[in-house]
Amino acid sequence: MVIRFNRPEKKNAITSAMYHRMTAALEEANGDETVRAVAFLGSEGCFSAGNDMGDFLTYALSGSKEVPAAAVFIKALALAEKPLVSGVDGLAIGIGTTLNLHCDMTVASGRSLFKTPFVDLALVPEAASSLLAPRVMGHQRAFAMLVAGEGFSAKAALEAGLVWKIVEPEVVEAETLSLAAGLAAKPPQALKIARDLVRGSRDEVLARIDEELVHFSAQLKSPEARAAFEAFMRR
Ligand code: COA
Repeated sequence: MVIRFNRPEKKNAITSAMYHRMTAALEEANGDETVRAVAFLGSEGCFSAGNDMGDFLTYALSGSKEVPAAAVFIKALALAEKPLVSGVDGLAIGIGTTLNLHCDMTVASGRSLFKTPFVDLALVPEAASSLLAPRVMGHQRAFAMLVAGEGFSAKAALEAGLVWKIVEPEVVEAETLSLAAGLAAKPPQALKIARDLVRGSRDEVLARIDEELVHFSAQLKSPEARAAFEAFMRR
């Protein structure tokens, strides 16, 4: 199954509707034995600019107590039962970066940029990145990325273990699909057990998602976050 961010005119920023559709797709993949792997792809030169800023602002102003669609998607991502691969060409901002921590293998082009400006937006890390990034990258690099908001080039992301392989931009998609096809051809039961063993317990990941969400939701409604979203919308 291919899940593609396909809103290039807005740098593939993710709206609530897109989160709902992706959640449904991941649940469909779990229940469909003909789906053997899931590949996340973006468009040429852009994976995703992260959560839609307009949606952030709407949520901030609404006073809604509803669980944001992004949070539901993130849990579906953590609970995905099929191998997840991603192909990043260009911008990978916010969840465009943290999503890859849930992917089993990520292919990126050399022109990719991974960046999570959470704190600059008066937000906090999400998608269990505060747990998974230090594991994958070590404290210093995770802090630089998640807290200091430093951008990681494809090369830095490769060195940090966030990326499996760097390829030319024009073959990101083919390489990603080829990886997915390779996994899809393996004996599914053994693949599932091996993946579960390598990934470890999901309870800790789900608990961290909830813990982050408490702070993320509160911060979303803070005056400092609202000011940051409004500044972006006014540019
Ligand atoms: N939400 C909503 N719209 C977004 C967006 C986002 N996260 N990211 C980009 N867009 C929109 C822009 O508003 C612009 O729309 P317009 O043409 O109607 O004005 C369009 O996508 C193109 O973006 P632009 O900013 O002109 O492109 P750029 O190449 O100069 O910069 C980014 C690209 C990604 C660096 C910049 O758009 C940006 O910083 N986006 C916000 C990223 C972010 O902070 N995401 C949330 C992380 S938690």
